[in-house]
Amino acid sequence: ILTRRTLLKASAAAAGGFGLGAMGNMVSAALAVPDPKILRTTKTTARLTEAEPTRDVLTYGEAGMPPVLRMTKGKPFAARLVNGLDEPTTIHWHGMRVPNKMDGVPFMVQPYVYTGDHFDYAFTPPDAGTFWYHPHCNTLEQMGHGLTGVIVVENPHDPAFDSQVVLNLRDWRLGGDGQFIAQFRPRDAARSGTYGTVRTANWQVEPQYDAPAGGLVRLRIAVTDVTRIHALTLEGAAADVIAIDGNPVPQRFALDMVRIGPGQRLDLAVRMPDDEGAVVTLRDVRGTKKAALATLRATGSSLKHDLRDLAVLEANPVPAPDIASATHIPLALSATAENVAANSICGSLGYSFWAINKVPWPGDTPDPTAPLAELKLGKSYVFDMENLTPHAHPIHLHGMSFTVLSSSAGPVMPLVSDTYLLQPDEKVQLGFVADNPGDWLLHCHIIEHQKTGMTSYVRVA
Ligand code: C2O
Ligand code: CU
Repeated sequence: ILTRRTLLKASAAAAGGFGLGAMGNMVSAALAVPDPKILRTTKTTARLTEAEPTRDVLTYGEAGMPPVLRMTKGKPFAARLVNGLDEPTTIHWHGMRVPNKMDGVPFMVQPYVYTGDHFDYAFTPPDAGTFWYHPHCNTLEQMGHGLTGVIVVENPHDPAFDSQVVLNLRDWRLGGDGQFIAQFRPRDAARSGTYGTVRTANWQVEPQYDAPAGGLVRLRIAVTDVTRIHALTLEGAAADVIAIDGNPVPQRFALDMVRIGPGQRLDLAVRMPDDEGAVVTLRDVRGTKKAALATLRATGSSLKHDLRDLAVLEANPVPAPDIASATHIPLALSATAENVAANSICGSLGYSFWAINKVPWPGDTPDPTAPLAELKLGKSYVFDMENLTPHAHPIHLHGMSFTVLSSSAGPVMPLVSDTYLLQPDEKVQLGFVADNPGDWLLHCHIIEHQKTGMTSYVRVA
């Protein structure tokens, strides 16, 4: 019997590299783009605390935070991943509706990129907004050690801001000596996840950025942490929420507090104070410590700009599901007592604590589980998703964006998104058109949950 793995190997051998036909075109497409990015995974050191620089930090590039990748909606993008790590890796373009072969899930859709090897990614972003990128192999370690970067996809029709600030929010699990400690504790993985000890924005503790007084700032926030759910507030300025998870909100609203989980993004239009030197503080008010994450300082004399003058963002071309004809897919998230954790090339935490529809994901073993559902290309579906656990789960669907239809927790805005932060005991309906062929993962973005069972996939054909 041919497993998926042997099939991938066979086709790689036949083509003298991965893929046939279309993939060959992808590679030349990568080379045809004037400025293909080279993303080389590297082990480095970084000054993250007052203590000694942290060793064994991972990044894309030479040193420092992974670069913010800038793309343009509708324009081809290409990047070559070169693996400088001593273990396999891949890149997943979180929230971007890319062809399945470009999605970065090893074993399911692409080969592992082994030490010293490379893989060419090429696609045209259909949507504008704030997205991010990260490996999809040994993710708790690789992301925990630094491999999380932000993507900005510009829409040439977007309203002009006086300035733009991009924030990559994430923690690090470091001891008092500034060095990494164990990335997780099993007892926490079976609960809300293991938290970092040092919180950063753009790899700095509470950085400050200058912005024109009285000006309008587009603040693009990505929560790339492996565990932490944030409750974000802004002090010292008025701000409107303009986009969530890359997609413009149907109706802009004043920011009070927004809860976003790992994997999610928040775009704010911030009206800077008029007084030079005034400081605006972004805080996470979840829990008891009201942590300051980053600040903006007003500079110069006031531009006196007005939030109300800001043009509306253009919606992304995500197809609207036809709810009347949609097929419903029940999806129950639960804890499990069954242990099916399999050792795999992309690492295993060694435990199964979670399941989707009672099936805990074993890891990237050959023919791991059947797809959760087989979807017909072009048809509409609704996930009837239910959280049977006492913990919140940011559930992420690859390859397609859904619309939030309803929730047992109260009225919802019809947000278009790729990650839904499901609260304990909540039931939600997420509608989408299965318009992207391939196998698409669905998993919790608390990486310990993902890696201990809370993962599955749908097949669109
Ligand atoms: Cu951002 Cu499968 O993940
Ligand atoms: Cu979870």
